[in-house]
Amino acid sequence: MMSAEGHAKRVFSGVQPTGNLHLGNYLGAVKRFVEMQDADWETVYCVVDLHAITVWQEPAALTQAIRELTAAFLACGLDPRRSIIFNQSQVSAHAELAWLFNCVARIGWLNRMTQFKEKAGKDREGASVGLYAYPCLMAADILAYRATHVPVGEDQKQHLELARDIATKFNQDFDAPDFFPLPEPLIEGAATRVMSLRDGTKKMSKSDPSDLSRINLTDDADTIAKKIRKAQTDPEPLPETVQGLADRPGADNLVGIYAALADTTKAAVVAQYAGQPFSAFKPALADLAVEKVAPIAGRMREWLADPAGIDAILADGAERADAIARPILREAYARVGLLRSRA
Ligand code: TYM
Repeated sequence: MMSAEGHAKRVFSGVQPTGNLHLGNYLGAVKRFVEMQDADWETVYCVVDLHAITVWQEPAALTQAIRELTAAFLACGLDPRRSIIFNQSQVSAHAELAWLFNCVARIGWLNRMTQFKEKAGKDREGASVGLYAYPCLMAADILAYRATHVPVGEDQKQHLELARDIATKFNQDFDAPDFFPLPEPLIEGAATRVMSLRDGTKKMSKSDPSDLSRINLTDDADTIAKKIRKAQTDPEPLPETVQGLADRPGADNLVGIYAALADTTKAAVVAQYAGQPFSAFKPALADLAVEKVAPIAGRMREWLADPAGIDAILADGAERADAIARPILREAYARVGLLRSRA
């Protein structure tokens, strides 16, 4: 069985430019992007604007959202000298490889994707074809770089499995055993699935109508503290062990957020706060969240004051990304038997 082994280690991940990043995106993804960059992995991070347009985006707002997400990446600590940072639509290999994968993946595979079902809702017939084929584009994002490791939140697990299935089938169909690596999802840490602050059984999400349900990376200190104060919990004090958080989704969520922000484990957090009421834990969590999250907004504003600077970073990143992806795409075309006679 082929695996990521045998391929040089390379990290790829992406985030959609569809409005403010929230604490779930940060703890589940971007904070970990920074850690991998700082641990000297080869890292490629993408603003996936082609994924964003699978649902309607106002064009001017989309342009702004691409710059804002790039500013958020930079404000969180991604460094264009150490990571390749770019937006997807500037590197055509993504869309081109996605077409090959549309022809490799089976309709039955895509029919199983739970995120499509959630996003399309009842109006399946009215959803865009792009929304349906979305996981093929995601597989192309990763495999265009032969990336071996993909840090994501829990909700992307099924898409990563599909990317592995596509890589496996391409390698088999075209008799190229190790052509694409099978990318490993890295779903790690205490906050791989951050839940709504209003309902611990629902995922924290950009689309929740209640702003109190999420902490946005643009929230100021007072707003962050208020949202944590109002977060849903239960009347019981903190348990002594992680097992004691079972069936207590609101409590479990806040402990997970604390652990991720403090770079520790849930077990360590409950050991520290065992027996204390949430009225004591919440202020500690609020202080920690303000300390870690509030400075990001200021740095984002500084970056956004220089849109030309952001565009230059994206252009440079796109050039470097293209240099990796183009030869891999060319080889994939050749494997498929497509004739490319132009240089
Ligand atoms: P997106 O833009 O919805 O989310 C970006 C990242 O944030 C994670 N995330 C969360 N993690 C923990 N708790 C939450 N409540 C939470 N909400 C979101 C997501 O898991 C993700 O890692 N399809 C992807 C984007 C994508 C991609 C890729 C990712 C496109 N191509 C290639 C990896 C590799 C998406 O829509 O993420």
